[in-house]
Amino acid sequence: MALYLKSGRGLTHRMPVMTCRGREIGMDVALRDKVEPQDGYKLLKVEKLNPTIGAYVGGVDLTQPFGEDVADELRLALAENLAIFLRDQPVDFEAHRRLAAVFGEAHVAPSTKPWRVPGFDEITKMHADENSTYVAGEHWHTDMSCDPEPPMGSLLYLHTIPPLGGDTVFSSMYAAWDALSDRMKAQLEDLSAVHDGVKAFGSLVPKGMELPCTAHPVARTHPVTGRKALYVNRSYTTRIEGIPERESDALLAFLFDHVQNPMFQCRFTWSPHAIAIWDNRCSQHMAIWDYFPQVRSGYRIQVKGEKPV
Ligand code: SIN
Repeated sequence: MALYLKSGRGLTHRMPVMTCRGREIGMDVALRDKVEPQDGYKLLKVEKLNPTIGAYVGGVDLTQPFGEDVADELRLALAENLAIFLRDQPVDFEAHRRLAAVFGEAHVAPSTKPWRVPGFDEITKMHADENSTYVAGEHWHTDMSCDPEPPMGSLLYLHTIPPLGGDTVFSSMYAAWDALSDRMKAQLEDLSAVHDGVKAFGSLVPKGMELPCTAHPVARTHPVTGRKALYVNRSYTTRIEGIPERESDALLAFLFDHVQNPMFQCRFTWSPHAIAIWDNRCSQHMAIWDYFPQVRSGYRIQVKGEKPV
């Protein structure tokens, strides 16, 4: 799959360094050969939410076609910030599709069939109201990690938001990995873990629908930045392979708790017609369902990714 920072020479982009429990968490991002050298953004306005994850992006009207120069900067903004947020973008299905194409081909998971928009297989309706008994993504996860090639990213557009609440929280899995001790990293480095679709949404899909179940490395290397990211999540991951079950349970419980550290997080408060774009390879997220019985509604497209290594 084409990686999403396209042409150009390599550069090392230095980001601020933060500390966690007295340890420095490295924030040097070696953006490899796939990016263009740049002195910041020429077209987009990018404002970080914090040093670790999340940025507001302005300076573009996504309802209209845009050029490859804007697309390049969107890809860079995502690589640098893991999750980006654009406000006041009342996109229709075509514009949503055009924006997703910036990052690659659409990922169409068979399990999204019950929620697909007719005529747009890659667009999933995301809706909650007074009749909802659950909302998608209300526990920490990275999207569809049960797939052999999970989506690299997701683009969520919400046209209707509740008067209060309904935020989405994002956590950097670079920061989560970097904050582990060297001993813990050494222990986890060569391990794989099983991600099972049944655990995440087995109760929500039609009876008999087969769901993927795949083992991935506990820590994966991001194909664009070259950075290591923790890759287990509470919603999908059932077990670490090759160690006794009790050890797997204890390690996973520790890691699921670890990714919830606010030091690794940002929180996005939606406004109507905002779009959030996140990189599933280096972040996790959680939808906060604190607005029942109010309405929160929109659409999501996922973009094809590669086999985690
Ligand atoms: C998701 O997990 O894809 C949904 C996130 C949200 O609704 O905020």
